Amino acid sequence: MEIILTQKERMLLEDQKSHEQICIEKYNNYANQVKDNQLKQICKANEQVERNHLNTINQLLSGKIPDINQQQNQNAGQNMNTTQSAASNLSDKDICSDLLMSEKYVSGAYDTTIFEFRDTNVRDVLNHIQKEEQKHGEAIFQYMESKGMYSVQ
Ligand SMILES: [Fe+2]
Ligand SMILES: [Fe+2]
Repeated sequence: MEIILTQKERMLLEDQKSHEQICIEKYNNYANQVKDNQLKQICKANEQVERNHLNTINQLLSGKIPDINQQQNQNAGQNMNTTQSAASNLSDKDICSDLLMSEKYVSGAYDTTIFEFRDTNVRDVLNHIQKEEQKHGEAIFQYMESKGMYSVQ
């Protein structure tokens, strides 16, 4: 399916594209910095999903509406292990807090974007991504809670 984007829609997608690129970078860097292996795996898993998001946004920008269901595991098995980064001063808890804040922001940005789109199918695609951002936040929250890093009031 082909779509023609308005200028505003294109600008919003460009913003989401840069958010996805930053998410990929963060997860990739943090996977090499965290001390706990379970958290490392969460970072790696989320990074793969962010790569799918970036692909999806790029497809939308080129005027194509991707099939959400076909996208699943598109990048599974693709291991983008980059160079080991220098030791970080950030604790695992600090890293989790930063990731949680990022996911919350990106999810909110998708929400705003969705409301500006004319095409129902594009809205559905963006909504699917937003739901996955919330799942990333949930995985980090549950990890933090299980480690006593997050006290629920
Ligand atoms: Fe994403
Ligand atoms: Fe995410």
